[in-house]
Amino acid sequence: MQILQPDEQSITKAARALSEGLLVAFPTETVYGLGANANDMAALQRLYAAKGRPENHPVIVHISGPDKLKDWAATVPRAAQLLADELWPGPLTLILPKAPHVLMQVTGGQNTVGLRVPNHPAALALIKQFNGGIAAPSANKFGKLSPTCALDIVTGFAADEIAYVIDGGICEVGIESTIVDFAGEQPRILRPGMILPEQIEKIIRSTGSTLEIARGKHSNFATATGTSTAQQAIRAPGMLASHYAPVTPLKVVSADKLHDCVTNLLKERHSVCVLAFAAPLEAAGELLGHWIKAPFDATIYARELYGNLRRLDANHCDAIVVESVPETEEWSGVADRLRRAAYRDPNELSSGGGRSGGTDGDATIKQH
Ligand code: TXA
Ligand code: MG
Repeated sequence: MQILQPDEQSITKAARALSEGLLVAFPTETVYGLGANANDMAALQRLYAAKGRPENHPVIVHISGPDKLKDWAATVPRAAQLLADELWPGPLTLILPKAPHVLMQVTGGQNTVGLRVPNHPAALALIKQFNGGIAAPSANKFGKLSPTCALDIVTGFAADEIAYVIDGGICEVGIESTIVDFAGEQPRILRPGMILPEQIEKIIRSTGSTLEIARGKHSNFATATGTSTAQQAIRAPGMLASHYAPVTPLKVVSADKLHDCVTNLLKERHSVCVLAFAAPLEAAGELLGHWIKAPFDATIYARELYGNLRRLDANHCDAIVVESVPETEEWSGVADRLRRAAYRDPNELSSGGGRSGGTDGDATIKQH
């Protein structure tokens, strides 16, 4: 693994490595991707092996512009074309019927393909220089937190798993792209992100399409479609209940329960660290680890989310407690990632706040 600065020479080197079937991690505006030649079966196998990801899970193909849609999709509905024209490059992935040549290893055996044009100069330069589609999941081991800087990849993979990491600094958006699925009768959101439903609706309104989306307090994107959990898991593994997770058990609690939850965990002799809008507890004692005061702005919160969770994880506390975020549309991507980061065996942690469970101390704190 070699870290490259995103200059012309490095981009050429990295593009050549992709052509040779090697893996290259590169920055996008959302999170870093782990790239492979989307037309090279052996490279895709290498990609799945490095990620530790089951092979029936599809990966997104990164392309250079909306004009390349027809190279990968069998049909492009007008609403999808409008979204691509308006929002690309940007944090939006479109799921479309695949063109015949698209490999099974890309689609996870499905008849659809995920396509995206990332809004990062290094990513765009790499795709153009490579002159093809780059299949790239987030550059993390399966189920773990996505990387938002080059160092996250260096620490997440063995040196021989990746040829190059292009260092493009910290990702602007910070959480993965919004995924809109065009495989059904109406477009629907498979994964919420920082491109919001209202933005999408506005763009596709003229086509007469209606966006399917679960809204409101208990909105659950994983079950919004009416398909079974198992089917859904294969369609979009980013929607598995347990995903984007730190190693430390994480609980999300509402503002009114935050202080009680932290105090009780401390009383039970659990070490705790916190991500909250609220100010730190005073005089909490040595078991209280790092307390990150979160910004009350969805854009900044999202940008810092994975970095903050990594920082808290590195505290090696018994628990991470996160104050819940507003239930409005602009926070839906963040809320979704927190929900998945919090997925745990319900018996792992005690002290209320939405997850009940055992109270017998250390034995109930499991590793994920
Ligand atoms: O922002 C992003 O989307 C980042 C950057 C690197 O582009 N990529 C990313 O990739 O998050 P990954 O593989 O970690 O998540 C991609 C999601 C998965 O949930 C996958 O199942 C879904 O996209 N996906 C890809 N192709 C699909 C398809 N044909 N049908 C349904 N879901 C698909
Ligand atoms: Mg991922």
